[in-house]
Amino acid sequence: MVDPAGMRYGMHAVLYVSANAAEDLWWCLVMKLETLAVPKGYRFSRRSFVRIASAASAVGLVHITTEVDLAYGQRRIARDIPADAVLINANENPLGPCAQACSAMADLGAKGGRYEFGLTQELVKTFAEIEGLKPEYVRAYAGSSEPLHYAVLAFTSPEKSLVMGDPAYEAPMRAASYSKARVFKVPLAKNYAHDVKAMVGADPNAGLLYICNPNNPTGTTTTREDIEYALVNKPKGSTLLIDEAYIHFSDAKPVLDLAAADKEVVVLRTFSKIYGMAGLRCGFAIARPDLLARLEPYGWNSMPVTAVVAGTASLKHKGLVLERKKINADIRNDLFSWLAADKYSFVPSESNCFMVDVKRPGKQFIEAMEAKKVYIGRVWPAWPTHVRVTVGTGPEMEVFKKAFKEAMETPALAVQGPPKGAESWRTDRPYASLS
Ligand SMILES: Cc1ncc(COP(=O)(O)O)c(C=O)c1O
Repeated sequence: MVDPAGMRYGMHAVLYVSANAAEDLWWCLVMKLETLAVPKGYRFSRRSFVRIASAASAVGLVHITTEVDLAYGQRRIARDIPADAVLINANENPLGPCAQACSAMADLGAKGGRYEFGLTQELVKTFAEIEGLKPEYVRAYAGSSEPLHYAVLAFTSPEKSLVMGDPAYEAPMRAASYSKARVFKVPLAKNYAHDVKAMVGADPNAGLLYICNPNNPTGTTTTREDIEYALVNKPKGSTLLIDEAYIHFSDAKPVLDLAAADKEVVVLRTFSKIYGMAGLRCGFAIARPDLLARLEPYGWNSMPVTAVVAGTASLKHKGLVLERKKINADIRNDLFSWLAADKYSFVPSESNCFMVDVKRPGKQFIEAMEAKKVYIGRVWPAWPTHVRVTVGTGPEMEVFKKAFKEAMETPALAVQGPPKGAESWRTDRPYASLS
């Protein structure tokens, strides 16, 4: 048993007896939170104890599926990739962190020996001020993959399903395999937006509706009106998870204000895309504090301080988003003109990735490109002849164009799949790791 009165900032939790596994896990969580120096005023109630203990014992260990798992999951392991390869497979930003973020990390240097929780508070405060939010509506994580999984775990169950688009980012579906929720995949509408009418009607027992805006992999957007429609018409008791990982590349309307207005919405943001910090790991969940509290039982860790200072410096760099949005759009538009001129079929995107129809099994095409040292993205079962391509630098996309044309001009193989003896595709091992 744990004394709830002791679970406050700066005080030691009192551990009497650890009677079972759930309590052991709870104890670990408490000790961890204590080391993190939980913000002043933060308080655990007896109810949150029960919630955390039962969530911990029900879910167990969860693999956080990230874009890198998915990007490499259908192919060979990362160490096989030649050093001069063009990597346009994982929706990374080839520009990396901005100069101000790099110098903030360099300046941090010697302070890296401390948890420096205050720096995370500063990051949250900076973001909240820019976006007109109360800081308690914003929680920082080491990337948005974590809160994405925790939201699925918190709001879905065997009785409460997950509803998402198709094709869409697969991570929520992977998370639902832990909560044992049914997954309803709703095909995108004709204009490649989320079909919100079909989504809200997919299952009256839905627990979570996931909308990625712009969508990964299509880079297409869903209108604010459609998101508001989903909010008003979603099944009773369900929550919307709006993933704005790619929002800065597009003209899509953000919905942080819906979270600020206390709606049943959790919004995700990441520094992995426009800010070029995928390897540094930094992101946010933005929602009403009671909704954020529902994610807590599933995991909470101290932030990497390098990512935190880089994130704060990036947010404070006023022109950065527009500058990078234009760089990405110019390269993407040039590529689209080139594809259109040669009558290749693709889905126009507003993001840093797009889908192109290679008129043959996508996996076969990926291998052909890989032989030319151009690593493109994966295939979604719903669209088996399309592959996802990430927008890289101008010179990278010139290499892509040449390889793409050559591969398209090579007749498709009659036999599908890899040649005999080649390493098999890893579709059977969705959680393949890079090691
Ligand atoms: C749609 C979407 N959401 C969330 C993420 C998570 O990114 P991260 O964990 O790097 O913040 C990604 C990564 O590619 C993504 O594509």
